[in-house]
Amino acid sequence: TLVLHVLGARPNFVKAAPVISGLAELGVRQGLIHTGQHYDALMSDVFFVDLNLPEPLANLAVGSGTHAQQTATLLTGLEEVMLREQPGLVVVYGDVNSTLAAILVCAKLGIPTAHVEAGLRSFDRSMPEEVNRIVTDALADILFCTSPDALSHLAHEGISPSKVHLVGNPMIDSLFSALPKLDPAPVQERLGLSGRYAVGTLHRPANVDDPASAKELVDAVLGVAEQVPVVVPLHPRGRQRLAEAGLVDGPALKIVEPLGYVDFLSLVRGAALVLTDSGGVQEETTMLGVPCLTIRPNTERPITVTHGTNRLVTPAQLPAAAAQALVDGASTPSEELPVLWDGKSGLRIARVIAAWLRGENLSP
Ligand code: UD1
Ligand code: UDP
Repeated sequence: TLVLHVLGARPNFVKAAPVISGLAELGVRQGLIHTGQHYDALMSDVFFVDLNLPEPLANLAVGSGTHAQQTATLLTGLEEVMLREQPGLVVVYGDVNSTLAAILVCAKLGIPTAHVEAGLRSFDRSMPEEVNRIVTDALADILFCTSPDALSHLAHEGISPSKVHLVGNPMIDSLFSALPKLDPAPVQERLGLSGRYAVGTLHRPANVDDPASAKELVDAVLGVAEQVPVVVPLHPRGRQRLAEAGLVDGPALKIVEPLGYVDFLSLVRGAALVLTDSGGVQEETTMLGVPCLTIRPNTERPITVTHGTNRLVTPAQLPAAAAQALVDGASTPSEELPVLWDGKSGLRIARVIAAWLRGENLSP
């Protein structure tokens, strides 16, 4: 039986790596399909190198477009792949359009599926990812959760607990594996940073797509840059719009290309503060003990607020929150870390999948 992983976007690669290595350890036959949702070398190739991911069986090169265009191309491309490869199980990750398309295709073809990072909810359906999460979880046959709150969301949506497994966070497995390689000095030197600095990532449509929101966001980030140099490895989405709103490279604000996984986390590890609207970065800063200000009205990862270093802020609150965080400083990662965020989630997922392939259901 072939287990097929469908990956398309930057955060997918990080979540899949530990599952793929866990399954390899158990001798399960597997393959990887890259949808090509992300295609720039710094959004894709670099992760295959840094995370030691195997060569994909195919790259569908679906590229960018509106949601409908991208999803439609994904659907037709993935249907062909599934008919050709006849997988026994398809594993999908997170909440991107590639995840949604893969689960829909498999549901229609009667191919069993597993969803890694199930049950996260922001309860904000204006977020494209929230729609993807709800549909994906409704259709998945096996659901792997990173945090206990996800279990109750799924129960509330009527999903049978027999399908659901709390396994911890594979994104944190990848971070554990990378830890020995995380050295801030070379990246800091390359970017001309000395002393304290903040790292920023911005790419949520609600923040960057609309000119008025982009302006408000950029003004807030400039308010932080008055206090501490801010380096922003900028996602391609909204680059133009943010530049028009005043997010331009200068001494206090460094705008750079997206960084590779090891470089990015090295930079974060040495940072005094992180400003973000990313999902995964909220979790990584919790693990690294770096203060994180998330510029969003909600989060599907509340555990990073209750058990981590994360705080939700509005753009207006950002400069003062940054000032406070710079005074408070970093915390050491403690035993307060979310349960099962221990670097062993990939193997837990692999064990459940291997048992499922043998016709057993490892009790959740
Ligand atoms: C996608 C995910 C989002 C995730 C993010 C991670 C969906 C709906 N959204 O958002 O949940 O947080 O990935 O990074 O799936 N582009 C490039 N080069 C690339 C990829 C994209 O230039 O390699 C540009 C294109 O202009 C494109 C835009 O970025 O139109 C958006 O890309 P897309 O994959 O549609 O969504 P993301 O914003 O990256
Ligand atoms: N990341 C990276 N380089 C960057 C920015 C982010 O390697 O310049 C990594 C980050 O460490 C995390 C993942 O990309 O592992 C998160 O992806 P992103 O923020 O694009 O997506 P989200 O988590 O919001 O869906």
